[in-house]
Amino acid sequence: MQTVHTVTELRAILDNWRQSGDKIAFVPTMGDLHEGHLSLVSAAKKQADRVVVSIFVNPLQFGENEDFDSYPRSLEHDSEKLQPHEVDLLFAPAVAAIYPDGLNNQTQVSVTAVSDTLCGASRPGHFNGVATVVSKLFNMVQPDIALFGEKDYQQLLVIRKLTSDLCFPVEIVGVETCREVDGLAMSSRNRYLSESQRDVAPALYRELRKAKKLIESGTVKDFGQLSELACSSLSNSGFIPDYFEVRNASNLAKPEAEDHDLLIFAAAWLGKARLIDNIRVSRGEKK
Ligand code: PAF
Repeated sequence: MQTVHTVTELRAILDNWRQSGDKIAFVPTMGDLHEGHLSLVSAAKKQADRVVVSIFVNPLQFGENEDFDSYPRSLEHDSEKLQPHEVDLLFAPAVAAIYPDGLNNQTQVSVTAVSDTLCGASRPGHFNGVATVVSKLFNMVQPDIALFGEKDYQQLLVIRKLTSDLCFPVEIVGVETCREVDGLAMSSRNRYLSESQRDVAPALYRELRKAKKLIESGTVKDFGQLSELACSSLSNSGFIPDYFEVRNASNLAKPEAEDHDLLIFAAAWLGKARLIDNIRVSRGEKK
């Protein structure tokens, strides 16, 4: 695996591969790699000749009071984790390589509608930051396919929309969420949990599974009430819930009676960790 830090070095290597006709897969990450990231790399390997992973903790997607400074950074560790996975190229740029004119002078990409709700409402500017860096990385790497985890399902929709709206010739592939044995979705932020909070954390996914059952069995039709009950149960377990919402899976709108393909989205604080997760729900038969 080669590691490069500048766009010039990155382009020189990629140009060679492209001239040889290699199909290039791209896995953008913020590092602190876990099994979830490695599952993206495995999926990438199956679908392309070359795999590029980027590690860049993107300041533009963090709010002022968020965890940009404390976000775990471990390039050496991450490189070691990638070694057995036959990644071809690791791109680990400095902030100045991505934002040479500074953050305030950066042209931004703003994806309408799907960015405004759920995490977008709780973290203003977050998806602009994601959309901007992903657009820049797409232009730098020019991959044939790019892979993203479904834990950040709203992010996946934002990226699908920007890829389509800005005509990037990139196929976007969503990869199923990796979970710990007790159901907790893998996330770099899980390391913020204390031992006792870690024991409580799987309750978020349990609550999602419970809600899915209630909807699919037809027991619950009032999603507002479902959300209130789930939030109060999460509060009783020690979370501070941000949202627990049933939405249309393709556009994140509140579901209409005829919508069958739904997702339940949850975000909740547990100590210093803001955990997010989701579950897919099929309501009734499609007519
Ligand atoms: O999901 C992430 O790790 C980040 O949001 C991404 C897509 C790498 C952009 O910084």
